[in-house]
Amino acid sequence: MCLTKSFIVKTKVTSFSQIDALAIYLKVGLGDLIITERRVYIDSLQKYCANSKATVIFKDDFIKGANSYEAFMELKKHINFHYTRVIGIGGGGTLDLAKLLAIDTTNLKNLFFEKEQVCKIASLYLVPTTPGTGSEVTPFCALYFEDRGLQFLLSSQALFADEAILCPKFLTTIPFDVLLASSFDAYVHAFESYLSPLATYQSSILSMHVLENLLKIFVQIANKGLAEVDSYLETIQLCGNIAGIAYANAGCAAVHALSYPLSTRLKIPHGEANYLVFFEVLQLYLRKKPEGKISNIRDLMAKVLMCDKLDAFAEFSKQCDYFMVKKGLAEYGMKESQILEFTDMVLSRQHMLIANGYETLTASEISDIYQNIL
Ligand SMILES: [Fe+2]
Repeated sequence: MCLTKSFIVKTKVTSFSQIDALAIYLKVGLGDLIITERRVYIDSLQKYCANSKATVIFKDDFIKGANSYEAFMELKKHINFHYTRVIGIGGGGTLDLAKLLAIDTTNLKNLFFEKEQVCKIASLYLVPTTPGTGSEVTPFCALYFEDRGLQFLLSSQALFADEAILCPKFLTTIPFDVLLASSFDAYVHAFESYLSPLATYQSSILSMHVLENLLKIFVQIANKGLAEVDSYLETIQLCGNIAGIAYANAGCAAVHALSYPLSTRLKIPHGEANYLVFFEVLQLYLRKKPEGKISNIRDLMAKVLMCDKLDAFAEFSKQCDYFMVKKGLAEYGMKESQILEFTDMVLSRQHMLIANGYETLTASEISDIYQNIL
């Protein structure tokens, strides 16, 4: 079968160094539906929105943790006016909700399960306030369906934002552990899209740029601590955005597939869940296909970490240990008896394991990974 590869960026990306300038540019008012988080609103948005005629909805009033179909339908009941613009300002989950609010969701289940055409009903502006999501430039939206006990992904060109607006000032108010976990998510987006069979010349350049620059920042933080972290925020945010463009085109793979049950069942935040499984997947890839594209990542790591190529992944893991703890899954409440269920959930993500995967993982390899990090 012929593999069709292409590279597309549909979203205009605009950057501001200050939130004031961003607010003037957006000029929110009548006809605008803003979906955000209460903390972000109080910290950064209140003075621009309070006296405007825009309608503001807080995600956290309806949804704790991952977005679900049921919670979204409840949220939708509270929106009873015609809007022409949806503005999502927040983390990846908030941006995903904004995507749903900008399309016709009258028959939302049909969009997910009957592959009905997705129709846009409002223009869409996305402002990420965490660095790693990349959702502002992807055509994807994840939603958990309680009746099926699983999360599903909707992929449609209609989910591309008309405009993504970046401002690193939003990152100054998020907790350090959230910042790091979200940055690691961006790192994994770059890692998986680089190794994907769907990678193109263009996406690979973006992925490599992110892998190099985030690695340098991780090393700086490991060596110097938090002292200079503010000076890295703009680069971290740009890396998250660029990695988003890369994985929008080449896709995510096994790390994301294995982290998905950890987030939906154990409620581990997405970036942290990726971190917990990343090094196991890395080792497995290395055992199965050491001389493929993963060898280029090893070369890059060895150069940045100034170590032998054979030690590069172990050295990277050690550097990360300085600022992110790898707890066992049992500490999050996972039981050994859940390994089978989690493995089945991973196997339901066939497109990530096969179409986008560097190497296909078997059921027993997936189970072994969970056993190793339990
Ligand atoms: Fe991710």
